[in-house]
Amino acid sequence: MDRIISSRIKAFYAAESAELFLGDSFKILQKIKPETVDMIFADPPYFLSNDGITCKGGKMVSVNKGAWDQGGGLKAKHEFNRRWIRLCRKALKPNGTIWISGTLHNIYSIGMALEQEGFKIINNITWQKTNPPPNLACRCFTHSTETVLWARKDDRNAKNFFNYEKMKELNGGRQMKDVWTGGLTKPSEKKEGRHPTQKPEYLLEKIVLASTRVGELVLDPFCGSGTTGAAALRCSRQFIGIDNEEAYLDISRRRLEKIRHEQRL
Ligand SMILES: C[S@@+](CC[C@H](N)C(=O)[O-])C[C@H]1O[C@@H](n2cnc3c(N)ncnc32)[C@H](O)[C@@H]1O
Repeated sequence: MDRIISSRIKAFYAAESAELFLGDSFKILQKIKPETVDMIFADPPYFLSNDGITCKGGKMVSVNKGAWDQGGGLKAKHEFNRRWIRLCRKALKPNGTIWISGTLHNIYSIGMALEQEGFKIINNITWQKTNPPPNLACRCFTHSTETVLWARKDDRNAKNFFNYEKMKELNGGRQMKDVWTGGLTKPSEKKEGRHPTQKPEYLLEKIVLASTRVGELVLDPFCGSGTTGAAALRCSRQFIGIDNEEAYLDISRRRLEKIRHEQRL
């Protein structure tokens, strides 16, 4: 694939249609050639690792995901979101789009940051989980949704690509709505290793198919276990992923290699 990140930054993994970079996204995003990326999907830190409890596999466990998910307060969280969204805007092509998923802990800051940084929100997708973990405290409703915002540059000439017909086909011949219902990530998608917040592949495949054409370049600045890359490769798109945890990039690399192997068979 064409090199769009400065050659001074060594790739953690490089293959024909995928590259992974280990490091801080704030540094690596700055090294991307402006206006070279067709679509960005980001699942940034939620800042919910506050020592609370949740339920996993029927057991009471800590909600803490890792040091990367600990917040420094409202102002710091919003500044964090504004900074990486600003860098993503520079990397995106004029007609490119960005999808950002989040929970109630960060999605309002993200929506605001998108508008402040020159994006126009196209859709507010609600991902409704069919098998959410139960609410142990029983003091509020069970959390069973996440939000995915889809946005384009707020420029009168910007025309985002939307594969309307494909989405209609996937929805049995009827217009697709903005509520997507489905299960949590299947164990079969975690065979290459576990990530605490791994997204299901069906969600990312829908996003990739809806907003990109074959061969286009997808970037994920917080790629974790590489779900976006897996979807991009399965749909014959190119992929660049960044994460600052080597153990997660190892999972990403194994998943991408497995798909490339399947595609060669
Ligand atoms: C919510 S997880 C993404 C999970 C991913 N969507 C998946 O399906 O596996 C966020 C990821 O961002 C990474 N991260 C947090 N801060 C980062 C930073 N400043 N630079 C690069 N990666 C970062 C974490 O290591 C974590 O893997």
